[in-house]
Amino acid sequence: MLVEPNTPLQAHNSFGISAKALQLVRVHTEADVQAVLADTALCNLPKFVLGGGSNIVLTGDVKPLVLKVEIKGMCLVEETDKAWVVEAAAGENWHDLVAWTLDNGWPGLENLALIPGSVGASPVQNIGAYGVELQDRFHSLDAIDLTTGQAFSLDAAQCAFGYRDSVFKHESSGANGLGLAGKALITRVRFLLRKDWKPVLGYLDLERKMAETGISNPTARQIFEWVCAIRQAKLPDPAIIGNAGSFFKNPTVTQDQCDDIIAREPKVVHYLLDDGRIKLAAGWLIDACGWKGKTVGNAGVYEKQALVLVNVGGKEHPCTGGEVMTLAKAIQTSVYERFGIRLEPEPVVV
Ligand code: EPU
Repeated sequence: MLVEPNTPLQAHNSFGISAKALQLVRVHTEADVQAVLADTALCNLPKFVLGGGSNIVLTGDVKPLVLKVEIKGMCLVEETDKAWVVEAAAGENWHDLVAWTLDNGWPGLENLALIPGSVGASPVQNIGAYGVELQDRFHSLDAIDLTTGQAFSLDAAQCAFGYRDSVFKHESSGANGLGLAGKALITRVRFLLRKDWKPVLGYLDLERKMAETGISNPTARQIFEWVCAIRQAKLPDPAIIGNAGSFFKNPTVTQDQCDDIIAREPKVVHYLLDDGRIKLAAGWLIDACGWKGKTVGNAGVYEKQALVLVNVGGKEHPCTGGEVMTLAKAIQTSVYERFGIRLEPEPVVV
């Protein structure tokens, strides 16, 4: 096991923010985690688990020991009459997993194509797009307790998935008695891909693709290609313009609160949820406050999607995490003053 001192993290966070890990260990196997926990100099240090770095804002050098998850491997673990169960190691790239399952003829993950980040990070925030969330395809995961070194597995109920939320985002005990933020390292994730697959097409952008192409019964491969095209047109590629995807969650309000906003802002984009509450499009709220293209230092609001904050300085003059957070706070204040709604950031601030 090699402990790398003062390791640059600019290439390991999708914002492209320049910061260092004071100490970093690359984790290639479960045994590497055990070796860290057995090392007297390392076992008691606070630890930070780094996956693809696509949902974090680095506000300075990272002082906890960084465990960079690079465990690889994808395989079919079970096939029944009803489903394929596929396992991917935490260090695999999420999009590569989606493409690999489709290449093998196992549909189900196509709506989640091109989401940046690693497989290990995907359950943490229950990634979602175009009408599908990770929890809809999740089977189980393996993880290691970073205090005791104990390996354990969780099923979907134990992960306590919510909208961009799971047990891995909470420090205190949730309803099921677990709170695993900072306490566990996910090593492997399994997905249940059903053989009675049906396309998920209820999303406006996909309906537009169906109308444009005249294809009313698309294959999973066709949906994969549409989702890639929609995302490429609308969202910045982090390899070119640094970003962490949607910066805020879409807020939910009661019918009364929504009626109040509609009375003042008739065009507000909103969706009725199953529980009777209303989800508002945070991108629309931010856009309505005139934020598209605005900057604080080298942090900016993406011109084509106000929900995405970007690094406008590139690799040479990257934004700082402080600039990103100052911009985020200014956006929160203006949305609150105009709509009375508090936006909640989605990425983890380190
Ligand atoms: N809108 C605007 N102006 C903007 C941005 C959006 O008016 O600047 C409006 C759009 O016209 C649309 C509505 O807001 O009517 C919603 O926008 P969009 O369809 O782009 O989806 P979103 O709610 O902004 C969510 C996810 C994305 C996911 C897309 C597609 C969250 C926080 N974000 O974005 O996830 O890709 O739906 O399903 O739920 C991510 O989490 O990193 C992410 C990219």
